[in-house]
Amino acid sequence: MTLRQTTLLIIAESLATFFSRTNPLRRLQPYSTSKENNVKDLLNGIKRTSDRRSFMKKSIVAAGAVTVGSALLGHELPAFAEEKSGRLTKGDAAILRFLAAAEILETDLWQQYNELGGIQDQEVPGGSGSPVYTAALSFLDGDMNQYIHDNTEDEFTHQNFINAYLAAKGADTVNLDHFRTLPSSAATGAQQIGRLTNLMQLTVDTSWWTRYRARNRNPDLDPNFKFPQAIPGLAAGQFPAIPRTDADLSPDDHIQAIANTAGFHFATIEQGGTSLYPSLAQRVTNTEVLRILLSIGPTETAHFQTWQDKAGNYKRLTDPTNGLVFPELNAPPFGGETFQTNLIMPEPVPFLSRKFPVCSIIRPTETRGAAMGAVKALTGDGLFIGQSPEFFALLRDLAEDADDARRECH
Ligand SMILES: [Fe+2]
Ligand SMILES: [Fe+2]
Repeated sequence: MTLRQTTLLIIAESLATFFSRTNPLRRLQPYSTSKENNVKDLLNGIKRTSDRRSFMKKSIVAAGAVTVGSALLGHELPAFAEEKSGRLTKGDAAILRFLAAAEILETDLWQQYNELGGIQDQEVPGGSGSPVYTAALSFLDGDMNQYIHDNTEDEFTHQNFINAYLAAKGADTVNLDHFRTLPSSAATGAQQIGRLTNLMQLTVDTSWWTRYRARNRNPDLDPNFKFPQAIPGLAAGQFPAIPRTDADLSPDDHIQAIANTAGFHFATIEQGGTSLYPSLAQRVTNTEVLRILLSIGPTETAHFQTWQDKAGNYKRLTDPTNGLVFPELNAPPFGGETFQTNLIMPEPVPFLSRKFPVCSIIRPTETRGAAMGAVKALTGDGLFIGQSPEFFALLRDLAEDADDARRECH
C-alpha cells in the first residue's frame, strides 16, 4: 500500500468513527482570552475524559480531510478505540505524534515570519514579503531573510518526515488543519489564510539568554531558580513580532522594535526544540525512532545557536508607541557574563549531580513532563491566543501521552 493509500485509509476509518459517534466537547468550558485566563486555566480548565481524549486524536485526522460542521457536534459518544501505533510501540508513536504536532505548530509560525520577512521562492509557500519589515530585521544581520527562509523550510521537512514515518509504520498521524482559524497579519505581504499560531500578541520569555550563561544554575538541578530575562519588557506585556497591518510599518523605532521582538522570539522557539528532543529521546524504545530524535534535535540547536547570535545585534531603542525597551545589555545595570551579547556558547554548568565536574550542555533535558513543559512554554508565550478549547485539549492529550511513554527493554 502506498503512503497516500495508507493515509486515505486512516482518514476513511476516522471519518467512519467520527460520523458514528458524538462530540463530548460541548461540555467544555467556554474559552476566554482575558488576562486572568492564564496558562494553567487554559490547559487544566477542560474536563478530561477518556472519551474525549480518544475523540480528539481520531477526529483530528478526519478534520483535515473534511470541513467539520458544527451540526455534527452534539450526539452521544461512547469511548473511542485508542489511536493506532502500528508497528511502533505505543510510547514511540505517542512521542512521534507529539513531535509531529510541535513541528506543525513551528512550521505555521515560521511560515508567517517567512511570508513577511524571509526570501520568497518556491521552496517555502510564501507571501510576497514586507520590504520595511525585512529591512528592520536586517539590522540584526544582513542575511536574516535567508536564515528565516531556511529555518522555515527545515520545519516543513520536520513535520512532513515525522508524519510520513508514522504513516509508514501503520500509526495514526497528526493533522491540525481543523484549527487553522487564527487570522493572518493584514500587512501587505502576508497571505490571507487561517493560522494555527498568533505572532501578534507575544509575551516572549527571554530567560534562555541567562540560563545558558549561568555557571552554577542548571534548571534540572535548580528547578525553582528564576533565570533573569534578557529583555524584561518582552516578558511583561503582549507585543507583535510581525507587523499586524501596514500601520505598524512606522515610525521607524516601532517596526524596528517588532523586528527586535522577532529576533528574540526566533531563539525562544528554537531553544525549546533544542531541549525537547533530547528530553524525549530518553524514553524512546526503537533505535530507529531514537535516530530520528537524535538527528532532528541538533538541527533545532543549530537554529538556536544562529538566532542567539543574531538576537544580540538587536537595535537598542524604546518603542515610541508602547514603551517597550530594548536596553543595552553590555552596560550596567546589565552587562557581565550574564548579559554580554557576544557570549553565545553555552557556559559549563553542573550536570546530573554537583559531585561531577561542570560540563557545557544543553539544558534543561529532564525527561519527566518534557512534552507538557513544552506546551506550557508555547502557551505562555501567547502563541495560541485565540485558539479553541478543543485545540488546548488536544495539545494537552498529545503531551500527556508522550510523557506517559516509557522506554521498553526487549
Ligand atoms: Fe523543528
Ligand atoms: Fe525549530
